[in-house]
Amino acid sequence: MSSSSGNITSVLKETRSFPPSQEFSSQAHVKSLAEYEKLWKEAAEEPEKFWAAQADSLSWVKKWDKVLEWKEPHAKWFLGGKLNVSANCLDRHLSGARKNKAAIIWEGEPGDTRVLTYQMLHREVCKFANVLKNIGAKAGDRVTIYLPMVPEAVIAMLACARIGATHSVIFGGFSAEAVADRNNDAGAKILITSDGGWRRGKIIPLKENVDQALAKSKTIEKVVVLKRCANPVTMKEGRDFWWHDLMDKASADCPAEPFDSEHPLFILYTSGSTGKPKGILHTSAGYLLGTSYSHRLVFDLKEEDIFWCTADVGWITGHSYIVYGPLCNGTTVMMYEGAPNHPKEDRFWDIISRYSVSIFYTAPTAIRAFIKWGDQWLNGHDLSSLRLLGTVGEPINPEAWMWYHKKIGASRCPIVDTWWQTETGSIMISPLPGALATKPGSATRPLPGVVAEVVDKQGNRVGDNQGGFLVVKKPWPAMLRTIYGDDARYQEQYWTQVKGFYFTADGARRDEDQYLWIMGRVDDVLNVAGHRLSTMEVESALVNHPQVAEAAVVGKPDEIKGEGISCFVTLKSGNAPTDELKKALRDHVVKEIGALARPDEIRFTESLPKTRSGKIMRRLLRDIAAGKQTLGDTTTLEDYSILAKLRSDEE
Ligand code: PRX
Repeated sequence: MSSSSGNITSVLKETRSFPPSQEFSSQAHVKSLAEYEKLWKEAAEEPEKFWAAQADSLSWVKKWDKVLEWKEPHAKWFLGGKLNVSANCLDRHLSGARKNKAAIIWEGEPGDTRVLTYQMLHREVCKFANVLKNIGAKAGDRVTIYLPMVPEAVIAMLACARIGATHSVIFGGFSAEAVADRNNDAGAKILITSDGGWRRGKIIPLKENVDQALAKSKTIEKVVVLKRCANPVTMKEGRDFWWHDLMDKASADCPAEPFDSEHPLFILYTSGSTGKPKGILHTSAGYLLGTSYSHRLVFDLKEEDIFWCTADVGWITGHSYIVYGPLCNGTTVMMYEGAPNHPKEDRFWDIISRYSVSIFYTAPTAIRAFIKWGDQWLNGHDLSSLRLLGTVGEPINPEAWMWYHKKIGASRCPIVDTWWQTETGSIMISPLPGALATKPGSATRPLPGVVAEVVDKQGNRVGDNQGGFLVVKKPWPAMLRTIYGDDARYQEQYWTQVKGFYFTADGARRDEDQYLWIMGRVDDVLNVAGHRLSTMEVESALVNHPQVAEAAVVGKPDEIKGEGISCFVTLKSGNAPTDELKKALRDHVVKEIGALARPDEIRFTESLPKTRSGKIMRRLLRDIAAGKQTLGDTTTLEDYSILAKLRSDEE
């Protein structure tokens, strides 16, 4: 990995700073920089005391005996404690006025709407938990969820949590192959899907993908199919069941069973620096605490907020900030099924104004698309209900930040740029909006309870404004516990790169105000439209094609997506480098991984530039893909002529 090269040069220079208004700070949970610093210090000095105090916000069936057992790199939080995650998100809200508060306000892409109060959501979850039990699910079993953005996705997740089954949600944009791989890796017994989901006016045929996936999935015994689009599907007798048929027969009585704090809650697959996705394992109490705590503080949550996180539930952002964090806090969550530009480019602004959304949390890639579509789409939409904005998933360029601040936030709403990862479970670095002045492009400072630092390869803190590796020095409650089925990889990837610390694989710099500026990944992981993708995954998909001999994949700058996918491909002899083949290879990658991995460009080359030891020179390829002159030392190139050839082979 490129991190071995050590120094990451920091280039960004941004000096603007936006303090929160007096009006915002005075009503905030944390009201000043001094208050934030005091909290952070207290938490750093006595982390267990700090987290124990925070954990009182959860409802426990049995209180824990010990806050933390840390045997690097394995953490156990709240040992001896017992709770039920779904009861924390539902049952405990039923005793007072929240019972009839909207838990989910949902809008489908075609315009259909549903509101589920906490009481209604509780009833649906109990019924579906009984459905799962009736078809053989038990605590500890793995259940795959492959659904569109409909309330049933949340219902299915919480129903799993209720009975102690471990869910593995797969984003609807992944292909049949990807679904099969994940089913097999998790050893999932039950799969929940739908006849389809709406996206840009078209139906995504989820059940059809499942049928293909199941030909290769060895462990799935039962499939539950939700009718969403009236899309014809094939149902296999004895294996496939309609959601509504099973729900009709299920009882609404399903008491929540207590589970250990460390009971596995879910597996979520994410890309690493190899071709095989990693099943990130999160457990119950620590994860729930991390998500609810950060949701309350970072979004400065109030009882009357309508909180809209635009991520899909298939990603960690959806898990933590559509489902577990907000519902644990009794929040009203806005949920939307479809694309931001359907039927027109103002769909998000229309939703915000019609439902009076007060907190809006989205990705920089979406903001860049809004800018491109033009300000005219904001006309006629009243965004005055907004009081706080957020971003997640990738560095935000200051220009996009300023647009978001002025056009969406009317220069009034603080912006929380939240840095975190699938592995961290919850937000780690972000302004507390009433306390910290924001700077466009900086995620600012770590949350109280998070000890993040910028270090060199030896783990020494680097000086201000010097690039280094972002690490976390102390365990935190929502951290991943392992990689499902591969603890050796967990140890190797996260705990050996910089000894003694959690390695994020991100580069960062700390400025003179102790603000952190994330500079992007230092491994071979791309961030395409806020989605993580391994270059190796795309490479293995390409070499899997019968005509491909070798492939190298690198990121290239992309105005909207942040990073695009650029592929250098060597063909097996006897194959002609045609445009048809380029198209076939693109389609092949989509089939192997999903549409999110569709290559932006494919260049054929007779061979790939390699060092004498045979390592592909990715830095060189990145420069070529970016259209830059190749700088630096290329004397180790095996074949200089390749360079010139690659440059001239523009698409
Ligand atoms: O590179 C960082 C980037 O996204 C990576 C994590 O990706 P994933 O696990 O898919 O989770 C995304 C949603 C939490 C990180 O290693 N990243 C995430 N948030 C930010 C970010 N980069 C810069 N600024 C952020 N706010």
